[in-house]
Amino acid sequence: MAMTTGVLGGCGVQPSPKAAPNKAGTSATDSTTTDLEIALKATQAEIALLPGKPTRVWTYQAQVLKGNPANVQALPGSYLGPVIRASKGQRVRVQFINDLPDKAERSIIHWHGLHLPERMDAHPRYAVDPGQTYTYEFEVVDRAGTYWFHPHPDMLTARQVYMGLAGLFLVSDEEEAAAKLPAGDYDIPLILQDRRFDPNNQFVYTAAGGMQGMEGMGDMTDRIMGFLGDRILVNGKLDFSLPAATRVYRLRLLNGSNSRIYKLAWDDGTPLTAIGTDGGLLEKPVQRPYVTIAPGERVELWADFSGRKVGDELTLLSLAFNGAEGAGAGDGMAAGHTMTGAKGTGVAMGGMMGGMGKGQALPLGAPFPVLKVRVVRQEQETLKRPTQLSRLNGYRLEDAVNRDKPRLFNLSMQNMVWKINGRTFEMEGVTDGETAKLDTMEVWEFINQTNPGEMMDPMGMAHPFHIHGVQFRIIDRQVLPELAAGWSSVREGYVDDGWKDTFLLMPGERVKLLLKFKDFPGLFVYHCHNLEHEDGGMMRNYRVVQ
Ligand code: C2O
Ligand code: CU
Ligand code: CU
Repeated sequence: MAMTTGVLGGCGVQPSPKAAPNKAGTSATDSTTTDLEIALKATQAEIALLPGKPTRVWTYQAQVLKGNPANVQALPGSYLGPVIRASKGQRVRVQFINDLPDKAERSIIHWHGLHLPERMDAHPRYAVDPGQTYTYEFEVVDRAGTYWFHPHPDMLTARQVYMGLAGLFLVSDEEEAAAKLPAGDYDIPLILQDRRFDPNNQFVYTAAGGMQGMEGMGDMTDRIMGFLGDRILVNGKLDFSLPAATRVYRLRLLNGSNSRIYKLAWDDGTPLTAIGTDGGLLEKPVQRPYVTIAPGERVELWADFSGRKVGDELTLLSLAFNGAEGAGAGDGMAAGHTMTGAKGTGVAMGGMMGGMGKGQALPLGAPFPVLKVRVVRQEQETLKRPTQLSRLNGYRLEDAVNRDKPRLFNLSMQNMVWKINGRTFEMEGVTDGETAKLDTMEVWEFINQTNPGEMMDPMGMAHPFHIHGVQFRIIDRQVLPELAAGWSSVREGYVDDGWKDTFLLMPGERVKLLLKFKDFPGLFVYHCHNLEHEDGGMMRNYRVVQ
């Protein structure tokens, strides 16, 4: 990837040098102690994605104000990015400038996966209006890993991410360096997203506040079930193909889609070797026949092309799976659709709820190609697959203050609204059941319930859950026997071996986590990372008290 200095991104507009007063009152420390200082402006731009008219997008334009410009790279020609690199222990200062075109588009950047104080984590109540600035300054305390950032204003997150706002925050440390992984040009971030285009090459987003103003069934399905596009983009590009050498790559996958889940596999059946998850490297590489990656999650692969020949082509597929939504209603039909399938096919199938969920050109669980690897160069491989990648200091169940009595989080739908323990998001609202003590370890159990009597999805749907501010361990998964079939179609692809900040719950599944609240008292959110669910209120606060 080319190194770039100065302003990165679409249209080369300089961020305004004079920042508006920061109403959240973050520290006004001078910059003598920061290692990297960036201005990040969320703004509108145009980009050529399809032949003909350019596509209007929203993008983060970066300008390096201090530090090594090589640590902030654009994804060339993409609305996504930038890719920010920092090492553990560094201090980073970011001036976020909201330059979005619509007055209503308040915004704020959330650093997904990083362990930060409340004001830096950016609770939705800190969102600023267009024309305003929000300043972040923090020390990177996390271990090496693939973290990311995206907007987080209440009820507007899904559309802002959809319009293009998301980037990567890659942390490195000594433990990672010791693992001797592919680096530089052999360390490739891959952000997976899906989009819909109108005949003028513009993104179509049909949920509330959408650009197209499409009424009716499709719109309701998008808002309640989650937005699904029918075109797959990798790093903001259609028909993505990776020219590769005959050697090993580190592929850092991020599912940056609003609601789509991917079941990733190589088309020739080669198993996948995972080396990292949300919170960095695993202890040892693990093999999977396929990898399941839900919105918000990251998986890092050790992808070895050294046995390939120049001219070989390999496709990364998303395989068919079922039961993620509308379980029991017309599940088999997903397989019949292709990437270019006409919108609206299958509307009549699967009954009321199943049919609505599946009225998409590319339903959840349908198979499709994600990207192509083309082997174009012979190179001598010198790296060996490490047997030990890192040491995870273990969390132990016996250290949890509530080891016999997990804190319960029931996920359900009531009157067509997704809820957590019967509640939806309230800006400052937090219950006793959502209040934890600093420096304690707890067991949390999330239960994806069925919703008898709910017309939209009586068996429930898949929810990728995310908790701000912490990395946790997954210690148990169970599923209701009657919903085991859908679960079985994705579960071998779970990579639960390392630190996680986001995890998938299939319908009928319950998951136990071990988490510890360190360093920062305050108010943080946890939510479904199906972004339409999040915006619809499937988000709550938790408070860490001293
Ligand atoms: Cu990536 Cu609160 O989200
Ligand atoms: Cu987060
Ligand atoms: Cu959800």
